[in-house]
Amino acid sequence: MKYDFESLIDRRGMDAIAVDAVGNPEIPMGPDGPKDGFDVIPMWIADMSFVTAPSITEAMKKRLDHPLFGYFATRKEYYEAISFWHQKRNNMPPIPAEAIGYENGVLGGVISALNVLCSKGDNVLLHSPTYIGFQFSLADNGYHMIQSPLIKDENGIDRMDLADMEEKIIRNHIHAAVFCSPHNPTGRVWEREELEDMYALFKKHDVYVVCDEIWSDLLIGDSRHIPAQSISEDARNRTVALYAPSKTFSLAGLIGSYRIVYNPYLRDRIEKEQALSHYNSMNVLSMYALIGAYSETGMEWLDELKTVLTENVDYACRFIEEKFKGVCTSRPQGTYMLFVDCTGWCKEHGRTIHEVEKAAWDVGVALQDGTMFGGEYTLRLNLALPHSRLIEAFDRLDRYVFNPAE
Ligand SMILES: Cc1ncc(COP(=O)(O)O)c(C=O)c1O
Repeated sequence: MKYDFESLIDRRGMDAIAVDAVGNPEIPMGPDGPKDGFDVIPMWIADMSFVTAPSITEAMKKRLDHPLFGYFATRKEYYEAISFWHQKRNNMPPIPAEAIGYENGVLGGVISALNVLCSKGDNVLLHSPTYIGFQFSLADNGYHMIQSPLIKDENGIDRMDLADMEEKIIRNHIHAAVFCSPHNPTGRVWEREELEDMYALFKKHDVYVVCDEIWSDLLIGDSRHIPAQSISEDARNRTVALYAPSKTFSLAGLIGSYRIVYNPYLRDRIEKEQALSHYNSMNVLSMYALIGAYSETGMEWLDELKTVLTENVDYACRFIEEKFKGVCTSRPQGTYMLFVDCTGWCKEHGRTIHEVEKAAWDVGVALQDGTMFGGEYTLRLNLALPHSRLIEAFDRLDRYVFNPAE
């Protein structure tokens, strides 16, 4: 490997909730800290324990050499980098600069789009399990979530239930959907046919789509991401697509996402809506970070990262299958999150999922309760960490949580 995905970087005290919030009452959002004798292995919040691509820090450092940071206009290189990236990674046609709009965060972008597409109190269609950020941001902004559960097919792959979606669309007068592609938390990467069928349904009932593609670069194995807007001319015009380099390159702390909207009516209305707060605006260093990320070097780094994540996913899924009786998971096709169902194990051992979670935290495996995403006995594990740490985490889960010596 040309890039380093193995070094154990000490992030403590360096602005990382992933480690600093663990067992810290001053940041009351993280897992409990471990018992004596165990160090923390961060496997909860969705950022990675890897040093980011060098082209990003180089682009930012170069800009820092010019120590003036006044008001600025978005550089044309920013738009060019986004267009370059989507052409190379997703086989998209060149994206005109006017179709690209800045958003501080993807969730804010989802809300700007819904504010244009809905009235307050409107019903919005989503799949369940549902990313917790959607749940909070929709509730906070007065939208009512209608969830259509994904159902496992005979091979254990999560599929949309189109009949259920249609019934819910009609019954609840739905005209807006938030669609997650790839899907968090299941890691499903949608196939073209599934997207075509979904868009046929949305066209039939005139449902507009806010498509969150924040995970679209993080593909496991040979999965391919199909951008929603590439499905058809109709899909292109009824979709607001949201992206960011934040998950791909671990840049959440820099802030900076963007939307792609081809429909000029929607674009103008969202542009106005997103500007209303007067604080949804780009930071000059994050602009350079994106330019550094969406480059040939960024691409090379990402290809190596995908190999590392694929190895980690393979290891974790195999380990669970071979050693954790009563625990099951579908192999994620994208993202670096593993959604794990412990129903069988919990029932057999008479334990709650919170007891399982606490037992993992006690030995430093700082994983996340999955129940807030859906499923009574679920856990969610972040696999974006050096392979040696993953091995250690699964060894501890084996010895102290799922198969402890009597
Ligand atoms: C599907 C999805 N959308 C959005 C976000 C958050 O994006 P942002 O921080 O840009 O709002 C996350 C973070 O985990 C996510 O998983």
